[in-house]
Amino acid sequence: MGFRKDFLWGGSTAANQCEGAYLEDGKGLNTADVMTAGTAKTPREITETIEAGRKYPSHIAVDHYHHFKEDIALMAEMGFKSYRMSISWARIYPNGYDAKPNEAGLKHYDEVFDELKRHNMEPIVTISHYETPLAMVKKFGSWKSREAVDCYVRYCNTIFNRYKGKVKYWLTFNEINSMSLSSWLAGGIPETDSEQDHMIAAYHQFVASAEAVKLAHSIDPDYKVGMMYGGLFSYPATCDPEDVEGNEQFMKKMLFYPDVQCRGYYPAYKLKEFERKGIKLPVVEGDDQILKEGKVDFLSFSYYFTLVAGKNTEKASVECGSLVTGYNNPYLKSTDWGFTIDPRGLRYSLNLFYDRYQIPLMIVENGLGALDQVEADGSIHDPYRAEYLREHIREMKKAVDEDGVDLLGYNWWGPFDIVSAGTGEMRKRYGFIYVDMDDEGKGTLNRSRKDSFYYYKKIIASNGENLD
Ligand code: BG6
Repeated sequence: MGFRKDFLWGGSTAANQCEGAYLEDGKGLNTADVMTAGTAKTPREITETIEAGRKYPSHIAVDHYHHFKEDIALMAEMGFKSYRMSISWARIYPNGYDAKPNEAGLKHYDEVFDELKRHNMEPIVTISHYETPLAMVKKFGSWKSREAVDCYVRYCNTIFNRYKGKVKYWLTFNEINSMSLSSWLAGGIPETDSEQDHMIAAYHQFVASAEAVKLAHSIDPDYKVGMMYGGLFSYPATCDPEDVEGNEQFMKKMLFYPDVQCRGYYPAYKLKEFERKGIKLPVVEGDDQILKEGKVDFLSFSYYFTLVAGKNTEKASVECGSLVTGYNNPYLKSTDWGFTIDPRGLRYSLNLFYDRYQIPLMIVENGLGALDQVEADGSIHDPYRAEYLREHIREMKKAVDEDGVDLLGYNWWGPFDIVSAGTGEMRKRYGFIYVDMDDEGKGTLNRSRKDSFYYYKKIIASNGENLD
């Protein structure tokens, strides 16, 4: 009973949301660097170039690039066994298509991995997390072109060789199903492009991911390469069979991503849909074999909320910087940013995936974005975050103990405060560690412990047994 002995308790970040130093040590611009700050009500804008007077949160973020030792030490103090982070592609290949990698960028991540090792923390590395070198977008339309596959594989080859012995877990694309939701984040594809274009881009990412899995195994048989699903899970609006069917169709728009990556081929329902819509995939001879041979070793996913879908749900609409459908769930409360809070849904989603694929799972994002109040003495009392954590771990434990799900780890999103991907805000804080930085880009960047810091530490120390 209980979580495995080597359970990976930890936290997750993404380079563009925490590193800052956006032009340092030879880094090129990426798709996140031209996204302005928004709010819950005002969407972020994508600008052609960097415009004077606009605020781009990725440029400074929380300066993790220069604070990584301090941040890692604080996470180690909480007892973290793992740290999920991403490599900024444009630090390694500033344009994406360069012939040679940028040594200064490679060296930076050597230092990060060495620091993690000193603290006995396992890196879980996302190869592409919501940032694509901008030059690839301008030169050949990013993932709409097969050239992106070559660039990605070259980049993987570089990092798989360079960090052999330092990294074991790799994730090929963050929330790959975002190509059907926020395609600019997913791969530098404008949202206004056609569904055909989005499906071409997704196809190229599938091939690239499968190539990466094969390459990783050939470089180091100990490498474990996972896919990463952006946690969209929905319930039928009612028990009206039409709603149940509508919900199933809605979920299939998302589930076809893990279906391809875990099974190694496109599911029949998707191919039929393409046929009906006249969507053609840019298949090159040999691709079927690549997809088959490049199935992932495990499935990782983010989990924040559940949705409700039914007969009239065409697609998720984007509101408040989060994804919500037209239906409310009257049984659930929501966060200040409109995410429903549904711990039971975590057990449901773990079961859904484990039953469907029967491969190990890993939770690589879960968390509560909230407004925190700093008291006069500098303390931060966040019982809401501790409660959220407790309830989700309780349900996760049932999935392991009662349902037999093979779960490798749990990584909280944003263990130290970072920039929100959806809104670009700082005030939407997830951290156990407070970072003194506001939405105007002002602050000392000092780090301090919130009450939840001590709570998560206790949970980890007891391997998830002590939730009091
Ligand atoms: C996930 C992304 O979708 O959700 C993260 O992988 C993101 O990059 C996280 O930060 C939380 O969303 P937000 O909009 O609150 O930052």
